[in-house]
Amino acid sequence: MMGHPLDYEGLVSGLPDALVGVDTELRVILWNPAAEDLLGRSARRVLGRTLKEVFAPETSLVRHLTDTLATGESRSESSAVVEGLDGRPVHVSVVTAPLAGRSGAVTSAVAVVRDISRLRQLEAEVRRGETLAAAGQMAIGLAHEIRNPLSAIRGAAQLMQRELGDEARWGEYTSVLLKEVTRVNSIIEMLLDVGRPVTLRVVPLNVHQLLERVALLLEEEAASRRITFVRRYDPSLPPILADEDRIMQVFHNLVRNAIEAMPGGGRLTLVTRLSMNPLFAKVDLGQGQRSMADIQIADEGAGISEETRAKLFTPFFTTKERGLGLGLALCHRIVDEHGGAIQVTSEPGRGTAMSCFLPIAR
Ligand SMILES: Nc1ncnc2c1ncn2[C@@H]1O[C@H](COP(=O)(O)OP(=O)(O)OP(=O)(O)O)[C@@H](O)[C@H]1O
Ligand SMILES: [Mg+2]
Repeated sequence: MMGHPLDYEGLVSGLPDALVGVDTELRVILWNPAAEDLLGRSARRVLGRTLKEVFAPETSLVRHLTDTLATGESRSESSAVVEGLDGRPVHVSVVTAPLAGRSGAVTSAVAVVRDISRLRQLEAEVRRGETLAAAGQMAIGLAHEIRNPLSAIRGAAQLMQRELGDEARWGEYTSVLLKEVTRVNSIIEMLLDVGRPVTLRVVPLNVHQLLERVALLLEEEAASRRITFVRRYDPSLPPILADEDRIMQVFHNLVRNAIEAMPGGGRLTLVTRLSMNPLFAKVDLGQGQRSMADIQIADEGAGISEETRAKLFTPFFTTKERGLGLGLALCHRIVDEHGGAIQVTSEPGRGTAMSCFLPIAR
């Protein structure tokens, strides 16, 4: 007995993956709604045209479909790039299959194109977490080893200073000694911070007050470097749920990076709003879904290259002469512990925007 005939057309148009079908001349005969979204071209525009007019001939999608038509064999590539809307590259997986007519000869071919950019992003997040954990372990070990001899050195230097205090020449030496020991000590403390499991004391906080406190600390110095702060606060944004000291560290580091990114001056923009980013709009901290706030710190600096971007959150990665490369590793860790996320958007030559997504307190 026959059941309901399968609604193939409904199936194809409801599929979340892009489906692209071509005839033996590579003319497009199938282009489902997911293909319209992912590949940024309407079915009306592409149906009947050859795929080589739609995409560059060397595109893997074109190549795989051509191969499949020629050989009658399926092709697949787990990590390809196609040109999406506005020519932007989209990371996809591609699988092609031949369709044969009654005679058995290949009459057409289809490709299933799946968007893997989101998957990529999640993978990157996970990998980042792993590097942090390993480096954190090492940091703790090292820091503990260094801390004790360091405090002995400091004690000895303080004694020396007391003993020799009056003699100007020696006093100069001991104060250098003490100053540098203090600097090393603060580096050690930062290292320990990256490695240490953080226990958060989260309370509702007014994010604008926090940002203004950071601005108070850094705005004057920034102004002397011809950097002006621009505020774009959403006054209706509810309080965030965060640990005050830790989250201040995050904003402080991000603002400092933004300042350091603009040696020639420029605008540093502080933006607050409710998150509209589908990836980071809601978070569940154990009592149901919460909305997220998007706190963005944007600069007009040189931007970040694709290559640098991959290493940004890795501890000790720095491109600065006097940088430690711990700022962002620490930020990532802290925001992560809050159930939030940091997103980097950057256009080389134009600037960088760092978005902190943090849970809202209700
Ligand atoms: N706003 C930005 N614009 C351009 N590049 C940036 C920006 N923020 C971070 N970076 C890049 O990421 C690297 C790592 O940043 P991170 O804050 O972790 O370390 P750092 O600033 O070099 O040193 P520190 O430990 O003092 O913060 C920087 O060296 C820089 O190359
Ligand atoms: Mg930094």
